[in-house]
Amino acid sequence: MSIGVSIRDATIADVRSIDWASSRVQSDAWLRECRRGQREASFMVAVCNGLVVGKVSVDWVRKPGVAWIWMASVCPAWQGHGIGTAMIAAAEVRAIRNRVVFAELAVDDDNPRAAALYERLGYRFVGSHFERRPAVDDHGNEYVAEKNGRVMRKALDTAGTDSPEFPVALMISI
Ligand SMILES: CC(C)(COP(=O)(O)OP(=O)(O)OC[C@H]1O[C@@H](n2cnc3c(N)ncnc32)[C@H](O)[C@@H]1OP(=O)(O)O)[C@@H](O)C(=O)NCCC(=O)NCCS
Repeated sequence: MSIGVSIRDATIADVRSIDWASSRVQSDAWLRECRRGQREASFMVAVCNGLVVGKVSVDWVRKPGVAWIWMASVCPAWQGHGIGTAMIAAAEVRAIRNRVVFAELAVDDDNPRAAALYERLGYRFVGSHFERRPAVDDHGNEYVAEKNGRVMRKALDTAGTDSPEFPVALMISI
């Protein structure tokens, strides 16, 4: 069976509706991110039948000249259907339209599946990454997680500057 998914800019209501986030502290961070102006960051969601099933953010100011793609995640039940791939592509189109020629993202060392996906999408290792991130343990206690990872970069094809942007629609098989 095929079902339609669209990718568009997020609203605060979209972000509030996400109940598959890994922790409340992360949800709060996404909300803060979403409230930043579009000049500083773009926040996009993948929506299926009114349900938010994926999200990704692009920070335009963290690193001048680079679209910093972060907070990519897909609802676990919807993973493996191409939604993550489509969201990264949408972020890249937004970057190209903003005349940004490089996209970068960071992936944790303990997340080889995501790293393999990014590599397939053309991202290459350019450096190491260390991050302290608020997290919640299995007992609901907040702590600061320390994560080692790598930064991956892709040179964007600026010939695509005129490609249509949102809403992106795709059909997935479920
Ligand atoms: C990483 C993540 C965002 C990728 O999203 P996704 O929607 O699962 O990604 P895709 O479906 O595009 O690709 C993932 C897999 O599905 C496969 N796939 C892609 N399109 C497909 C399709 N149309 N039909 C079936 N499978 C497909 C890919 O080949 C890939 O396979 P593999 O990982 O088994 O080798 C998602 O897995 C996730 O949220 N993970 C937890 C949070 C996380 O790790 N975020 C990344 C932080 S850097």
